[in-house]
Amino acid sequence: MKIGALTLDQPVALAPMAGMTDTAFRRLVKRKGGCGLVVTEMVSSEGLVRGIDRTLEYAEYTEEERPVSIQIFGGDPAVMADAAQIVEGMGADVVDINMGCPVPKIAKHQAGCSLMREPSHAAEIVRAMASAVKIPVTVKMRAGWNEKEINAPLLAKMVEDAGAAAVAVHGRTAAQSYTGESDWSLIGRVAGSVAIPVFGSGDCVLPDQVVSRLRDTGARGVLVGRGALRNPWIFSQAATLAAGRTLTPDVALEDRGAFLLDYIDLLMRERVGESAGFRHTAPGVTAPEPARGRERWVINKVRALGAWYTKGLDGGAQLRVAINSTDSVGALRQLIHEFFGAPALVGG
Ligand SMILES: Cc1cc2nc3c(=O)[nH]c(=O)nc-3n(C[C@H](O)[C@H](O)[C@H](O)COP(=O)(O)O)c2cc1C
Repeated sequence: MKIGALTLDQPVALAPMAGMTDTAFRRLVKRKGGCGLVVTEMVSSEGLVRGIDRTLEYAEYTEEERPVSIQIFGGDPAVMADAAQIVEGMGADVVDINMGCPVPKIAKHQAGCSLMREPSHAAEIVRAMASAVKIPVTVKMRAGWNEKEINAPLLAKMVEDAGAAAVAVHGRTAAQSYTGESDWSLIGRVAGSVAIPVFGSGDCVLPDQVVSRLRDTGARGVLVGRGALRNPWIFSQAATLAAGRTLTPDVALEDRGAFLLDYIDLLMRERVGESAGFRHTAPGVTAPEPARGRERWVINKVRALGAWYTKGLDGGAQLRVAINSTDSVGALRQLIHEFFGAPALVGG
């Protein structure tokens, strides 16, 4: 599977998720195997161009995450082209454009999904970016703005003509947000309307769903979002199934706990500025925060992941409540250790 000149080992990628797919989470997902590409949280093109520290942090990544796609949002072709050059200068493998975000704060500024309502303008952004950088420019879109304006097949063709190297389609409209179901027959239609690879997105929560979408829909790749927040092993499990092998029994509870503890460790290290391997940042990033603020930040990140990660676990609801009432990283580690490491608590 190729995006421009870039070859992916696997056709399954970690979807961009604001607040969730930070560098720590992406690293851990990669370590579990089977993930062909990771995409960052969406990053503001204006923030990148102005060199705002917070924005630059969202775009940080480490070598072990490669290949890495940095997703940017914005509506001004010149600013998006400049931002793409910054992304390229940071060494990213792909620059992705967000044309799917339905949140009014983003979508009202000719950005995110509102670009789907202005296909010519959207294509102009792609053209400006593709002529500014050598790395592949890709587009992530939805089915359309609403049920009356479903235009992903047309927009995909237009951005292909403007120089996009691949597109990803989340088969819901902006109006649907996350209700209903992702329309994979529409994703198939998009795949049939362009020569570049199409990634389908939406509702692949189990590894066999990933495999059947790849087999049956015409999509050459699949993005996994919420399924990876619940089960970061979904990529390796899907690769196992796709290779015709049978899955080993479920991930052991201790391994699930270890994932959360590793996540905490990486987050803590991140913010104290200890070496996290070779990091790619633009100049001017990483002023360590005071310890207390850092701890609060880590707790909030674990709460955010915990909301997804605990779903479907025996005793998951109680664990969520407990995580949400924990106010130190030490107590959080202890709680995770007890829940996942002490089988007696399971089922409670
Ligand atoms: C918490 C959350 C944050 C998201 N943030 C982004 C984002 O920053 N950029 C983007 O293109 N899509 C974003 N999405 C959409 C996902 O990439 C994906 O297309 C969608 O969740 C459907 O796939 P899933 O059913 O596998 O989760 C987000 C989704 C979730 C749940």
